[in-house]
Amino acid sequence: MSLRASSEPIRFAYWVPNVSGGLVISKVPQRTSWDAAYNRKLAQIAEEAGFDYALTQIRFTAGYGAEYQHESVAFSHALAAATTRLTVIAAILPGPWNPTLAAKQIATISELTEGRIAINLVSGWFSGEFRAIGEPWLDHDERYRRSEEFLRSLRGIWTQDNFTFRGDFYRYTNYTLKPKPERLPEIFQGGSSRAARDMAARVSDWYFTNGNTPEGIKAQVADLQAKARENGHSVKVGVNAFVIARETEEEARAVLQEIIDHADPDAVKAFGHEVKNAGKASPEGEGNWAKSTFEDLVQYNDGFKTNLIGTPDQIAERIVALKDAGVDLALLAFLHFQEEVKYFGDEVIPRVRALEAARAERAEAA
Ligand SMILES: Cc1cc2nc3c(=O)[nH]c(=O)nc-3n(C[C@H](O)[C@H](O)[C@H](O)COP(=O)(O)O)c2cc1C
Repeated sequence: MSLRASSEPIRFAYWVPNVSGGLVISKVPQRTSWDAAYNRKLAQIAEEAGFDYALTQIRFTAGYGAEYQHESVAFSHALAAATTRLTVIAAILPGPWNPTLAAKQIATISELTEGRIAINLVSGWFSGEFRAIGEPWLDHDERYRRSEEFLRSLRGIWTQDNFTFRGDFYRYTNYTLKPKPERLPEIFQGGSSRAARDMAARVSDWYFTNGNTPEGIKAQVADLQAKARENGHSVKVGVNAFVIARETEEEARAVLQEIIDHADPDAVKAFGHEVKNAGKASPEGEGNWAKSTFEDLVQYNDGFKTNLIGTPDQIAERIVALKDAGVDLALLAFLHFQEEVKYFGDEVIPRVRALEAARAERAEAA
C-alpha cells in the first residue's frame, strides 16, 4: 500500500564523479573519469536524459579509494555553468566550512547560475580526514547539533536582515548579507541515524539516505514523516542506488558480480571499519552502514541494496515501488557514467513516466 506516494513525478539525481575511482571500491575496469572535461560532458548528457539534479562529493583526503578529489563548491559551479537546466548540489562539511563563507559563496553562485545551486550539508564520517586537516572530531550526535546550527545560520543569513543568532557553535550579531540569493537554495542533508532523521524532520528541505530495500525505506520514511508532521515541517526524501541496467537480468547480475569480484578487500574492510565506527557511535546504532555487509560496502552508500539492477522494465517498476514507499528522488550512481546515464534516460525514465501516468489514470478512474 502506498505510504505517501507523491503525485509529482519522481526526480532523478546522479552522483558527480568528482573524486577518482568512481563510486565503487573495486578495481573493475571503469570508463568513468573524475576530470573536469568528462564531468562537464556528463552533466550535459544527464540534463538531456531527464535528470534534474547532480550531487557533488566533498572529501579532503584519500580514504579507501578516491585518491584524488576536486572540491565540491567550485566543481558544482563549473557544472552549472556548462548546463542550462540542471541544479547542482554542492556538498558542504561543517568544520572546514563555516556558515558565513558558505552563505556568501552559494549566494554568489546562485546569482551566476539563475538559482541552479543547492547544498548537501554533510556531517562527517571519516575521523582520519578530520585529524589530517586539524579539525576537531566531535561525537556523532554533536556533529548533527553543529550541522543543524549551520543550517539555521544559513537560512537566517539568506532570509533576514540584521540576522542575530546565539548558538553553541555559531554566533551572528545584526549581520546582513547583500545580495541575498533571489531563489532560496534547497538544503539537502545526508545520514540515516536517529540524529540525522531528527534534524531532517526539523529543518532540512531534503533527507538523503543510503541505499536500502523498499521495506527498509518505507520504515525510515514513516518514522521521518511522523516526526516532521509533529514539528509542522515538510521534508522530501532522496535514496541512493547503484544502477546496472542491461538488456537482460543475467547481464546486469554478471556486471554486479564482476564489480564484487574485483573489490579491493583491504580497502573495503578498512572503509567498513571506519564507517561502522561512525554509524555505531550514534547512540541507537542505526546510522548509515550500521548493518552493511562486505558486498554492500563495495558501493560507498549501500547502493546495491536498492536493487536497481536488471532490465529497464524491472528497474522502472522498482523505482515506482520506491515512490510508493515515500521516495521523492532517486540518487543514482553508475559504473560507466556517460554511457549509462544516457541509456537510463533512453530506456528507464520513459518507462517510469509511463508507469506513473498509468497509475495517475487509474487513480482518477477510481
Ligand atoms: C547521499 C549522501 C551523500 C553524502 N555525501 C557526503 C560527502 O560528500 N562527504 C562526506 O564527508 N560525507 C557525505 N555523506 C555522509 C553523511 O553526511 C553522514 O556523515 C553519514 O551518512 C553518517 O550518517 P549517520 O548519521 O547515519 O551515521 C553523505 C551521505 C549521504 C547519504
